[in-house]
Amino acid sequence: TPSITDYLRSHIRTVPDWPAPGVQFRDITPLLQDPRVFRVLIDTFVHRYMDRAQRPDVVAGLDARGFIIGSVLAYELGLGFVPIRKKGKLPFTTVQETYELEYGSATVELHADAVRPGDRVLVVDDLIATGGTMMAGKKLLEKLGAEVFEGAAIVDLPELGGSQRLREAGLALFTLVDFG
Ligand code: PRP
Ligand code: HPA
Repeated sequence: TPSITDYLRSHIRTVPDWPAPGVQFRDITPLLQDPRVFRVLIDTFVHRYMDRAQRPDVVAGLDARGFIIGSVLAYELGLGFVPIRKKGKLPFTTVQETYELEYGSATVELHADAVRPGDRVLVVDDLIATGGTMMAGKKLLEKLGAEVFEGAAIVDLPELGGSQRLREAGLALFTLVDFG
């Protein structure tokens, strides 16, 4: 029988040379588009995080594709959802974290009242590449005194070293599909 991993993998599209020459872009839109596959995806996360030992207090999603999965997951778990956004989008008082990209840098923000000290937070995104985005999200939540107990993503690109760096920084990760 085919595994859930193979089923999900077969609905992720690889687009060569996007957004730049040499990049093999892993596009999750076909996976979201098919109602049966979308349900298998979300249910896989729901089943992991509905257990008492794994259940978060809050789900945080990373801009923008982390919102798609994170908000549905939070809703299904009966939890609130908080967005971690690219700079300049959140209207209230924020905490900020800047991190290095291949060329230049990026800044992400979180509302200062988004979580409470001691909250157990799950951070969700579609994909881990260099790990910079998820690391920045973890740091933001920790600035507010929350405990990021795990990061979840559909796809890991292990050759870029991001998931290894995140685990070395003490973040447990749950990912469903690897692309080498
Ligand atoms: C992509 C992806 C992750 C991040 C992964 O988002 O959705 O958030 O990059 O890369 P990293 O592990 O090297 O940080 P992108 O910045 O393209 O934003 P988008 O979701 O708004 O398109
Ligand atoms: N797909 C989606 N997002 C990404 C990728 C990718 O291959 N690489 C970095 N961010």
